[in-house]
Amino acid sequence: MAEDQYNIVKRVSEETSTPIIIVLAQNQPFSLGELSSIADGIINANLPGSYGGLPIAEALFGEFSPSGRQPYTYPRLDYQSTTTYFTPVWNEYSPEFSFGQGMGYNEITYSNITTSSDVISPGNPINVSVTAVNNGKLPQMEPVLMYTTQQVRRGYSPEKYRLRAFDKQLIEPGASRTFTFKLTAEELMFWNVDLNRVLEEGLIDITINAFNKNYVKKTVNLKK
Ligand SMILES: *[C@@H]1O[C@H](CO)[C@@H](O)[C@H](O)[C@H]1NC(C)=O
Ligand SMILES: *[C@@H]1O[C@H](CO)[C@@H](O)[C@H](O)[C@H]1NC(C)=O
Repeated sequence: MAEDQYNIVKRVSEETSTPIIIVLAQNQPFSLGELSSIADGIINANLPGSYGGLPIAEALFGEFSPSGRQPYTYPRLDYQSTTTYFTPVWNEYSPEFSFGQGMGYNEITYSNITTSSDVISPGNPINVSVTAVNNGKLPQMEPVLMYTTQQVRRGYSPEKYRLRAFDKQLIEPGASRTFTFKLTAEELMFWNVDLNRVLEEGLIDITINAFNKNYVKKTVNLKK
């Protein structure tokens, strides 16, 4: 961001009590420095096009609750821009915004994550269900993202999270919705150094909305 603009935002935050909403309209992520901690809210509009102003204004005035999720990992610093969300489990990389992170105005809580079986194996997929409740005052188009993490792999670092499925449904205020996803053992295989796709038995954590505060988690056992 141009230094003068950055300094204006910082001065407004330090010298006034004006609430600050940052609207990012840009074709690539730029380092936000202290701005993201100064802001009371952030809308990442990306490049919304010539008709983008109206929906941005409507979102700001609370006419609807935004429902987008971060479509890529937004780095904290420029040199991190090639890091993907599925870093190895040992990586402590903390991006500005994670892939899949985001929220609207409504508080959505999740409960009752259930699987059709606690064991998953090739040819025997499982269904994963989770119930979302809209505790807010506005209707919410709610995206639900299902990620998996293998806890341990011999000789290979598991990825911290991999997105396996997602869905988006409208939840009226006070109402609840159940989201169901299919998960296969084949998806949980990975490429080894000999370029074979292999299945490593072990525990798999299924995390719904891994990068949001309302995440829920369940563990299943991957077998051959
Ligand atoms: C929990 O989810 C299961 C499977 O979708 C469903 O049969 C059950 O009624 C749900 N229970 C509650 C309390 O929502
Ligand atoms: C998963 O859900 C689908 C669609 O509701 C159903 O046809 C299938 O039998 C379910 N599979 C299991 C293992 O429960």
